[in-house]
Amino acid sequence: MTTEQQPRAQWLGRWGFVLAATGSAVGLGNIWKFPYMTGEHGGGAFVLVYLVCILAVGVPVMMTEIAFGRRGRGSPIDAVRRVVTESGRSSAWSLLGWMAMLCGFMILSFYVVVAGWSFSYLWKMLSGGLNGSGVDDMAAIFVANNENPFNLGFWSTLVTLATMLIVGKGVQAGIEKSVSWMMPGMVIMLLILIGYGAFSGGFGEAWSFLFSFNTGSLSSEGMLAALGHAFFTLSLASGAILTYGSYLPDGASIGRTTFSVAIADTLVALMAGLAIFPIIFANGMSPEGGPGLLFMSLPLAFQAMPLGTLFGVLFFVMLSMAALTSSISMVEATVSWLVDNKGITRRTAAWGTGIVLWLVSTLAMLSFNLGADWTLGGRHFFDWLDYLTSRWMMPLGGLGMVLLAGFVLKSETFREELGLAPHWHVLWLFMVRYVSPLGILVIFVDALGIARLQFGLHWPWLLAVLALITVIGELLSPRLRRTLAG
Ligand code: TRP
Repeated sequence: MTTEQQPRAQWLGRWGFVLAATGSAVGLGNIWKFPYMTGEHGGGAFVLVYLVCILAVGVPVMMTEIAFGRRGRGSPIDAVRRVVTESGRSSAWSLLGWMAMLCGFMILSFYVVVAGWSFSYLWKMLSGGLNGSGVDDMAAIFVANNENPFNLGFWSTLVTLATMLIVGKGVQAGIEKSVSWMMPGMVIMLLILIGYGAFSGGFGEAWSFLFSFNTGSLSSEGMLAALGHAFFTLSLASGAILTYGSYLPDGASIGRTTFSVAIADTLVALMAGLAIFPIIFANGMSPEGGPGLLFMSLPLAFQAMPLGTLFGVLFFVMLSMAALTSSISMVEATVSWLVDNKGITRRTAAWGTGIVLWLVSTLAMLSFNLGADWTLGGRHFFDWLDYLTSRWMMPLGGLGMVLLAGFVLKSETFREELGLAPHWHVLWLFMVRYVSPLGILVIFVDALGIARLQFGLHWPWLLAVLALITVIGELLSPRLRRTLAG
């Protein structure tokens, strides 16, 4: 029995989609990963490459994903199936939708553990559980927090419950309502923290750490990191953006909304760097990567500062909100699929998904304690989830999506759905046909370990290869179309 005849939910407000999609995009990736990656890979030069990746790969892929969602008006599986059958193509392409949905679910299974760290540190800040005098003490607290499965499990369970509570309430009353206060709240807290950092004495150093233009330190590894991160930070190819797009009203401009989300996401990432590093530098610490930055250095720095506890609490509230607005988007794909296809209510779908999620995430959580020895090929379950999704499933899903849009489907579909002026449409088409696939292939070549591409100083070569591929592609495109269409 399907309930597909029911009118599908839509965002209520003009900003509903932008807020929700930005909430999905802004997460631990922005606040924690981006700042230290920037520091590691050459500051301003890395930021510049990252911006290019967002524009050349992130934006076109996101536009394509939203267009799929709105055109197909359904979960990733249903939407992709409808859009390809509309063009008379094989419905086997809906495998892409399955993969996206699975990918979102897998990301969430380890994401709730990391979000659980944030919630537990908020509690530690409030209850005075972070008193220690050095980095060693902080490291011991972090280890102790992970060592007890009941403790760690408690916090990831809490995140799971909060996520399901919001999603169970529905698109408007749950997701839209919660992001419409959490997102502005988050930005205000971030601004307050930047102000606090500005008075701490480390602002100048943080600024030059993030923005000093130092091309010498930008390696090809840094460029690859920027490209992979562009995918991750925009929540692409994991079902979230596509499903949110399926609630987008007909009149809304996909191009404009995509740019708003990409710009907001990038601004929050840069702001997070400007909030965290002054506090770190003012206390003479080093900007290390890994969990150490947020869960060891930062709590220690807060301790040494006036009103540190207050601002520490503010920081972890902000981080927890950022994580929560992302986690709700990851389950929405699965929940909407269940509601549309299984004839069950949203509430039942949410709690059912929650139970499965709880089981899988508990397994991921155990990687830090009981299951410390359960590894396969040198990876814990937790690491496998991360590796498979970010190195394989997201790029593969993105690649499938842009190839479909660029070569296989009827061109009217996207012309109508995107509604761009002709010259913008040509630019989008060029991006999804050649630039985005090339960028994604570079990720694969690296993941397979075939070769480490050394394109650091060889921009002209990269452009030449792109030009060549474009010419060949345009010559072969009718044949390519037939081959891909199967
Ligand atoms: N964009 C999120 C962040 O930066 C992480 C993320 C990746 C994500 N894929 C996702 C979030 C899918 C929601 C849905 O932290």
